[in-house]
Formats: sequence, C-alpha cells, structure tokens
Amino acid sequence: MCGIIGIVGREPVAGLLVESLKRLEYRGYDSAGVATLEAGSVLTRRRAEGKLRNLEIRLAKEPLTGLIGIGHTRWATHGAPTEANAHPHATARVAVVHNGIIENFRELRDELEAAGQRFSSETDTEVVAQLVDFHLARGESPAASVAATLKRLTGAFALAFLFPGHDDLVIGARRGSPLAVGWGEGEMYLGSDAIALAPFTDRIAYLEEGDWVEITRAGATIHDETDAVVERPIVVVSAAAFQVDRGSYRHFMAKEIHEQPEVVGHTLAHYLDLSESRIRLPIALPFDWAKLERLSIVACGTAYYAGLVAKYWFEQWARLPVEIDVASEFRYREPPLPKNGLALFVSQSGETADTLASLRYCKAEGQHTAAVVNVTTSTIARESEAIFPTLAGPEIGVASTKAFTCQLSVLASLAVSAGRARGVLSAEDERRLVRALGDLPGLMGRVLRLEPKIEKIAREISKAEDVLYLGRGSNYPIALEGALKLKEISYIHAEGYAAGELKHGPIALIDETMPVVVIAPHDKLFEKTISNMQEVAARGGKIILITDEKGATAASVPILETIVLPDMPAEVASIVYALPIQMLAYHAAVFMGTDVDQPRNLAKSVTVE
Ligand code: F6R
Repeated sequence: MCGIIGIVGREPVAGLLVESLKRLEYRGYDSAGVATLEAGSVLTRRRAEGKLRNLEIRLAKEPLTGLIGIGHTRWATHGAPTEANAHPHATARVAVVHNGIIENFRELRDELEAAGQRFSSETDTEVVAQLVDFHLARGESPAASVAATLKRLTGAFALAFLFPGHDDLVIGARRGSPLAVGWGEGEMYLGSDAIALAPFTDRIAYLEEGDWVEITRAGATIHDETDAVVERPIVVVSAAAFQVDRGSYRHFMAKEIHEQPEVVGHTLAHYLDLSESRIRLPIALPFDWAKLERLSIVACGTAYYAGLVAKYWFEQWARLPVEIDVASEFRYREPPLPKNGLALFVSQSGETADTLASLRYCKAEGQHTAAVVNVTTSTIARESEAIFPTLAGPEIGVASTKAFTCQLSVLASLAVSAGRARGVLSAEDERRLVRALGDLPGLMGRVLRLEPKIEKIAREISKAEDVLYLGRGSNYPIALEGALKLKEISYIHAEGYAAGELKHGPIALIDETMPVVVIAPHDKLFEKTISNMQEVAARGGKIILITDEKGATAASVPILETIVLPDMPAEVASIVYALPIQMLAYHAAVFMGTDVDQPRNLAKSVTVE
C-alpha cells in the first residue's frame, strides 16, 4: 500500500528519501512527503498531492538540508488524497509516516480531542502522532512514548517516527505491515522493503510481528512486543532483488511481459529436471500428497486466477479435491477444513493482508500450509510451512504479468508432483508433462513475436466501451484474467465468463459494438466454445479469436480477427495463452494514454483489507 522510509544519515537526506520513495512508488502514489530536522532540531516538512514528481518540484523550490528524516508515498485509505492528508503527520514534538490502517482511530481521536489534542487531518495516522505527542508532553522519552502508543493501537501498521531535538534517532515499528532495517557505514535506514533500501545497503534485518526499533548512526536496538531487547538476523539481500530498471522499454509492464520466457524458464529450472524429464521440487515436502484429503487454494486478484487454473490441474492430474476462494471471502467464511488438508496461498508480494489472514486461519485450523510467493522474504513466505518460490524477479508494473505465468509454472509443477505421488499420473505422463512445461519459454518467445498484430487489434479494443472475454476449462480463468488486465490498466469495462455461461445472461449484452475475445485452443472443448462463438456471431458481436492453426482453420464463423498461436500441448496451453491477453490489455491502455505502470486507484502491494 503506502511506502515508508527513514534515514539517520551523515549528509542531507531529502534527496536520498526521494530516491528511495521512487522505488516504493509502486505501492501507492496519491501523495508523497518528507520531514527532516533542519539545523539538527527544527522539524520541517515538504508534502505534495499526487505523484512523487510534485514533491520533487516542491523540494527544488524549497530545499531541505537535514541529516535525518522520514518519507512516505501514500495510497489513500482514510481521507482524500490531499496535501493536508499527506504524510508525514506531525505535532510540535513528533512526525510520523505510516503504512497500514489504525482500526481504533475514531475512539483514540475522541479520547485525545477530549484531552485537548488538536487534529489537522482526516487520517487515521494522525492519532499515532497525537498519542505519541501526548506522552512526550508529559516528559516521557521518545522510546517510552512510542512503546506506550503501540500498546493502544489496533490494526495493521509499519511506522517511522522522527523527533525534533533528537538528531540521532528514528524509531520504527511493525505490526501487520512489513518493515526492514538497513545497516550502512555510519548511517542507518528503515524501509518498507529491501528495494527501498537498495541504493544505500544490502545488509538488512526484517522486523518480526510486533517489533519496534530505535535506529541511530551507531546501529539498531530492536524490541519485541513486550519491549524486551531482541536480535533479528541481518541478511545480505541478493543483487537480483534490486533490478528495477526499465531498460529500453516504455513501461515496466512491457518489460515484464517480454521477460516471461526468461523468468518462466528460470522458475521452471528450479522445479524440473529436464535431462531426466522429471519433477524435482526445490524443497523436501513437509506433507504427503498421497495422504491429503483436500487442497484449499486461497489468493487475491490475478494470483487467485492462477489458483483457479491450478484447480483444473490438481483435480485432473492428481484427483485431489480442490476448494478455492478469494482470500477476503475465505477468511470470514470460517470454512471447515479436513484434518489432512493442505492450504496453498498464492501471492506475488507475499504481503496481501487478506491472504495473510487466511494463512493464519488455516494454521490455527491445523492445516499444512504452503505458499507460492515471489518475494521470499515476505510475511506470507516466512509464516508458511513450505515455500515454493516463483523466480520472476521484482515486478514493478502494478498489473501483474510475469508473476502470474511464473505462479502458473510452479503450480503446474506441483500438480504433476501430486499426480505422481497419488498414483494418478504414470512415469510416462510425468515425462510428457515435464517436456511440455520445458517447452513453455520457447513457445512464449514465439507468441511475443505476434505483438505487431496484437497491437493492431488492441487499437480496435481501445475504442470499445465494454469487452467480453470467454474461455472454457483451464482457459476460463485466462478469460477472467484478460478482463481484469484490461479493466485495471485501460479503464475499459470488461467481463470474463465461462463460455458455457454466455446464454445464461451475458449474451443479452452482445451487439455490433461489443468485442468478444474468445480464448480457444483446439482442444477437447474447442467445438463447444465454437458453438458459443456462433451465438455471439449471430448477434453481430465482433469476435477476436485466440487459437492455434487447427482452431483457426476449424472455426467456421465470421471472425473479426484471429490471433494464431503455435501448436502446444493442451494441458499447459493456458500459461502461454496468458501472453496475448496481457499484450491486448497493454496496447489498449497505451492507445488510451493511461498511466500503464501506475493505474489510478491501485497499489502493487495490498497490505490493508
Ligand atoms: C492484478 C494484480 C492484483 C494482484 C492481487 C494479489 O494485475 O496484480 O490483482 O494479483 O492484488 O496480490 P499478491 O499476488 O501480491 O498477493
């Protein structure tokens, strides 16, 4: 959601804070702000509505020179994205930046107002500043004031505090939202993630749930939730985690779409033994596939659609009953879970609040837990019994692309592993499927070469007000994902449907203005999907068919456009068919002139419910 940063430095920090916030802008970009101590003691803020660029302009006009400071990029939750609501929030005695939500802020605000504290914003965050101020005003130290405040807060947060008059102290705290501490040469840092700290250091400690930390130029003192001093391991973060360069691409999303052959290949290399054509999982499993009664897959958004594709694989290849739900529903449904159940969480960021809450629910219910995650230092990764990493590298474009196909690659590998262990797939089946997975990077490379044609079709799509996506079987979730991608980056309304559902309602929408994207490789369901396509054609709908050579030849309906993909084994086709729908959405958004990498109202990491 929001991104936070804190620096206790040896040179003016305003520029460094902004540099770091640029790397966090993927988390939110409704407003940004920094606060420093000028002349070592005078708390001074610069804040600006909108993107970070506006803050840079403000700082160029009114520079700051303090050697210590905190910064924030905001994804608005409580209060409009105005300058008054921008962080840091401050009183005369403290400034604070916050990622997360303070759930009991109304009650605290009433109490503090009654005690005479005066508020200047609509945010939940300001109660934190006011509560710390309340304690400081009574002569308590910054550490004691923060410790007392933390005990009053309910909700999820990562916080960083700056205190006028204390030019060698920033205090950070974490509950529910991530916070990393970084060690430099005579300088110390706090940041929402390792990417934020990348320009300064690769030596990092991740705070645990409930921890708070005092950083000074000499180092860090970490406390747990009981205020006891604790040690947290310092890890050296790999250089790969810092690759956030757009290269020659116009957008991160374009770069990430084009990286897919490479990152999917890289991911599969950790799950397949291609010389033996066998699955070789990167970890020893803490559960036995053969003994599982049920698999529960839980995730949000695009990661949920990856899970939905995987449901088809686990059910067909491993005859393992799968229940799947979006995390925001799952966590409150309180579903009964069998004794021998595995709960699998799919998440790029590993910080999605609802997915994390579902993981904690499943642990409490005695399930085995495993996570398919891209950020292996994330909370979901750390709290799961088993981690299956996707090796997509940092995904910066807010719309997920390469993380999705890497998730699918890992999930397919796991489903084959389950199928073998449960005696459903033979050794020959395993060989065939592993070879099919091994061919994915090459197939993806060929599909990317179709971009000029897809770009042309995207121009037509960009003129539409509504678009329908249809698919069947494991391509039904790809239809859902196609609609989500188009909606989120081009703002064109789109719906994904199981092709067989068309006549149960959505067919009423079809007219000559409505493009209908049909995802239909020539597989055993092709004929059925073609009948649905005929229903669309009969009502004048504009069809864009994504299929293969055989499908293109067999489709005997008037088709506006056909995107012809190479032949490939039907079982894994959905992974490759994700690419044309990503490119369609991307180019439609480029034609619409939207902010592709940072679409309105969205954030890359959703650490609030
Ligand atoms: C869509 C998108 C989101 C995420 C969802 C879950 O392009 O990126 O729908 O998939 O917010 O995020 P993670 O995977 O980080 O849990």
